Amino acid sequence: MRAVDIIIKKRDKLELTKEEIEFFISGYTKGDIPDYQAAAWAMAVLLNGMTPRETTDLTLAMAHSGDVLDLSGVVDIALDKHSTGGVGDKTTLAVLPMVVAAGLPVGKMSGRGLGFSGGTLDKMESIPGYRTDLTTEEFLEQLRTVGIVLTGQSADLAPADGKLYALRDVTGTVPSIPLIASSIMSKKLAAGAQGIVLDVKVGRGAFMQTLDDARELAQLMVDIARLAGRRAIALLSDMNQPLGYAVGNALEVKEAIDTLHGHGPADFYEHCLKVAAYMLILGGKAKTEEEGRAIAAHTISDGSAWEKFRALVQAQGGDVAYVDEPERLPRASLVESMLAPKSGYVARIDAREVGETAVILGAGREKKGDPIDHAVGIVVHKKVGEPIEEGEPLLTIHANDEARLNEAEERLWGAVEISPEKPEPLPHFYGVIGL
Ligand code: URA
Repeated sequence: MRAVDIIIKKRDKLELTKEEIEFFISGYTKGDIPDYQAAAWAMAVLLNGMTPRETTDLTLAMAHSGDVLDLSGVVDIALDKHSTGGVGDKTTLAVLPMVVAAGLPVGKMSGRGLGFSGGTLDKMESIPGYRTDLTTEEFLEQLRTVGIVLTGQSADLAPADGKLYALRDVTGTVPSIPLIASSIMSKKLAAGAQGIVLDVKVGRGAFMQTLDDARELAQLMVDIARLAGRRAIALLSDMNQPLGYAVGNALEVKEAIDTLHGHGPADFYEHCLKVAAYMLILGGKAKTEEEGRAIAAHTISDGSAWEKFRALVQAQGGDVAYVDEPERLPRASLVESMLAPKSGYVARIDAREVGETAVILGAGREKKGDPIDHAVGIVVHKKVGEPIEEGEPLLTIHANDEARLNEAEERLWGAVEISPEKPEPLPHFYGVIGL
C-alpha cells in the first residue's frame, strides 16, 4: 500500500477501505508518512468528505494509535462530557462535581483553549498549585479514592489526533465535519468513555455556525459512539452570546464557584442542569431529563457538589484557600466598565468578538504554547433580550495592560448592540440527539 494512492483515491472522491485508513493513520503516527502527504490527504477529506463508515474507521484508527484506557475495574460506567468549544464555557467545572455528588465517579481529561475558545485546563490552572499533568497511574488512583479527576489529556492517548490536529490547524483543514467528529471521538474512546454527553455549540462563537452543520456533526458523533459500542447523547446549544457572564480564566472559575454555591447566572445554571441531567441518564441514575435535573439541583442546594469541587482541587494539589475565598484568585490591575450609551434592549453580544477580545487581553493564545494571563477577561452584565438603562454597565474589562485595555474597549463596542425594540431572548438549546 502507498500513501500517495490513498490520497489520490480520496482526491477522486472514492471511499477508502478500513485497511487504507488504518495504514495511513498508523504510518502518519509512526512518522513513516510525512506531514506534506498527511496535509494533502486532510485537504482531500475536507473537500470531498467521508462516509459515516469511513469516519468511524478513522476514529477507531486514531483511538487505537496509542494507549486505550480501560476504566471498567474502577467505575461501574465510565462517563464523560465534551464541549465542541465556546466562549465563557466553564460547564465542566460545575457539572463534574454535580454528577459525582449524585453518586457517579467521573475522571475527565480536558484540553486547553485555542483561538477564541477557552479551555478547561487553563481555567483550573488559575488556582495556585492545581496540577493538570497527572500520570495515568495518578488518574486511576484518584478516580478510585476521591471519585473525581479533572486533568490534561495524556500524550499516550490518541497520539494520531494530537499530530493531525496540529497539522490541520496550520493547513486550513480544521472545519471538516468528519475530521472534527473523529478528532473528538477518538480522544473520548481512548480515554475509556462508555457514556458521553456531547455539548455541540452552534452560532457566532462556535466552530459550527449553522444549526444544520451542528446537527450533522452531532448525529455523526452519536453514530460513531454507537458503532464503537458506546453511547452518546448530543445537546445542540447556543453560542451566539457568551455562556454565563464571565469570560476569562480566573473570572470563570469564580463564576463556577458561585454556581456551585447556588448563585450563578441563570443561563449557565440552566446549562449545567441539562448537561448533568443527561450524564445522570447515561449513568443510570435518572430516567428522564426532569428527574436528572432534580437530582443535579439537589447537589447544589445541599452543598455536596461544592464539597466535590473542593475535594478535586485538594486532590490535585490546588490551594483550597483560593476557592474558599475566590477573591484571592488572580485579579487584574485595570478594571473598567463600558456603560450603555443609550437605553433600550441588548440585541447582540457577539460571542466570537468577545472571545477574540479576551485573547487580545491575554486570556487565551494566538498559537499553541503561548503563555496566558489568568486574571484578565471580560464580564458581560446583560444578556440578549434584557433591558438596559443609559449609563448602566454593559461590559467590564479586566486587563493588566493599558494599551490592550484600550484595544479591547474599541473592539467590544463593535461586538454589542442596543436596540429600541425588545428582541427575542436567544434559546439555550436547539435540540437533543441520540436519546
Ligand atoms: N476539537 C477537537 O478536539 N478536534 C477538532 O477537530 C475540533 C475541535
